[in-house]
Amino acid sequence: MIEVNNVSKQFKEKKKTIAAVKDVSFSISKGEIVGLLGENGAGKTTLLRMISTIMEPTNGSIKINGIDISKKTMGIKQKIGVLFGSETGLYDRLSARENLAYFSSLYGISKHETNVRIDQLAVRFGMKDYIDRRVGGYSKGMRQKVAIARTLIHDPDIILFDEPTTGLDISSANMFRELVHQLRKEGKTIVFSSHIMEEVKLLCQSIIMIHKGELVYQGDIDELYKQEESEDLNYIFMSRLVRGA
Ligand SMILES: Nc1ncnc2c1ncn2[C@@H]1O[C@H](COP(=O)(O)OP(=O)(O)OP(=O)(O)O)[C@@H](O)[C@H]1O
Ligand SMILES: [Mg+2]
Repeated sequence: MIEVNNVSKQFKEKKKTIAAVKDVSFSISKGEIVGLLGENGAGKTTLLRMISTIMEPTNGSIKINGIDISKKTMGIKQKIGVLFGSETGLYDRLSARENLAYFSSLYGISKHETNVRIDQLAVRFGMKDYIDRRVGGYSKGMRQKVAIARTLIHDPDIILFDEPTTGLDISSANMFRELVHQLRKEGKTIVFSSHIMEEVKLLCQSIIMIHKGELVYQGDIDELYKQEESEDLNYIFMSRLVRGA
C-alpha cells in the first residue's frame, strides 16, 4: 500500500522556483499495476523519485504500508525496486553478473542467495550469453535488461519503472510486458510511467494522470472509460489535459 498525501516538490534554480509537483494525493493498493501518464515535464519522474525515497518532498508525506518513508529505514528500501529510464546506474567496467552481485550485496543478501537470483534473472531475461561480458560493450537493450534485473535483484514488493520500454526493440518491449504480467501474478505492486498508451491499456487496471504537476485523474481505467464514454486513451488524455485538474 502506497499513500501519497498532499505531496509537493519545488526546485530552486537561481532566483526561480519550479513547482514540479503540486499538492498531489493518491493511494495505491497492494498488487495494483498503475500507469503514470503525463506530458514531458509533467512531474512523473519527480513523483517516482520521491516514492522511491531518492528525493524528499518539499511538502506532504508518503507512506508505504503505513510507515512514513522519510525515515528511510532499510526495511522500506528493501521493499522498493526502482528503474529510471535514462540512467541505468550500471558500472561499465563490470560484467552484468558483477553489477548484479554488487547491488545485491548492498541489500545484505547472502552470496548463495545472490547467485541463485542472478541465475534466475539471467534465464528470465535471456542474458545468459552475455552476462559475463563487460556492460560497457552492451547495446542499449542489453543494458536495459540488466537494469531491469537490477531493479528486481532483492525481490521487492513495490516496483517503480520510469519509462521502462523507451529504447527497447519490439521483442524486448514485449518481454518487459510479459514480465509485468508475471510480477502481477506474484502479487507485486507496480507503478510505471509511459508515453505509450497501448502499453498502459494492456498492462494497467488503474492510472494516475498528471498535468503540470497537478493530479488530473487517479483510479480505475474502466471507470475513466465510462466517464469519458470512450476507450480511446489517447483522446481521453488530450481532452483531460485541455480541461485540466
Ligand atoms: N533537479 C531538478 N532541478 C530543477 N528542476 C527540475 C529538476 N528535476 C525536475 N525538474 C523540473 O520539474 C519538472 C518536472 O520534471 P520531471 O522530470 O518530473 O517530468 P516528467 O514528467 O518525468 O517528464 P518526461 O516525460 O520528459 O520525463 C520540469 O519542469 C523539470 O524541469
Ligand atoms: Mg521523466
